[in-house]
Amino acid sequence: MPTALITGATAGIGAAFARRLAADGFTLVLVARDQARLTASAAELRKRYGVAVEVLPADLSLDEGVRRVEERLERGVDLLVNNAGFGHPGAFLEVPVADEVTMLRVHCEAVLRLTLAALPGMRSRGRGYVINVASVAAFFTRGTYSASKAWVVNFSESAAAEIPEPNVRVMALCPGFVRTEFHQRASMDTSGIPGFLWLSADRVVDEAMRDLARGRRVSVPSALYKAIVSVGKLVPRNLVGQVSGRLGRR
Ligand SMILES: NC(=O)c1ccc[n+]([C@@H]2O[C@H](COP(=O)([O-])OP(=O)(O)OC[C@H]3O[C@@H](n4cnc5c(N)ncnc54)[C@H](OP(=O)(O)O)[C@@H]3O)[C@@H](O)[C@H]2O)c1
Repeated sequence: MPTALITGATAGIGAAFARRLAADGFTLVLVARDQARLTASAAELRKRYGVAVEVLPADLSLDEGVRRVEERLERGVDLLVNNAGFGHPGAFLEVPVADEVTMLRVHCEAVLRLTLAALPGMRSRGRGYVINVASVAAFFTRGTYSASKAWVVNFSESAAAEIPEPNVRVMALCPGFVRTEFHQRASMDTSGIPGFLWLSADRVVDEAMRDLARGRRVSVPSALYKAIVSVGKLVPRNLVGQVSGRLGRR
């Protein structure tokens, strides 16, 4: 059975990846901080899909947490989903610098280290996949969040371009607004975001898996968000900054 390790696997997009990959017959390794929730998620997945599920509690903002996950990846996995992430409450200049650094650790340092821990085994076997969850925000300007996600897209494209083995792939996944715990955890007011902009986590994962199979290096789920990203590249950057900075604030 192929093995998939998913970070942030207990909620939202990560939980949707866990359900989809369990249904596809993957053995799972679930990573998040909340041990009780990990145990409950694993029990539910075993019961519903009959697959083996390991839990690996780890805080990816800490060196020790990333190291534990690196060690598991070095033992070999077929698919790594770097998904764990969060948003900040408040506007860019109001966020304490320590919280910004924590975000960079989870969104960038952990993604870098875990990808580099997984790739050697994948390359020696000639097969393996890494999905790095970025965001449509990567193409806009919204403080450290969008900057960190732009790094994820650029890093993933760079890694994908350098890997010589055709069946070892790295893909950045760039969802728009997805109904998960993300906005509530960040105390964001989403009441002004129209319904048609929201995607389900299951749809995002289905489109991601399809794009991975097609060999895409960047996946933007839904025609609407593909259009938004295309238009965003044509609009002057200062206008992009004014509009995107207002969305989803308290
Ligand atoms: N929802 C959206 O609209 C949206 C849009 C674009 C991109 N994204 C990206 O999608 C990814 C998943 O977000 P989501 O919306 O599914 O969020 P979510 O529902 O809040 O789930 C976040 C998951 O990450 C885990 N996590 C958070 N911090 C962690 C840490 N320091 N170490 C280990 N695990 C951690 C959480 O579990 P614990 O709290 O137990 O650790 C949880 O399992 C993120 O990278 C986010 O930036 C989300």
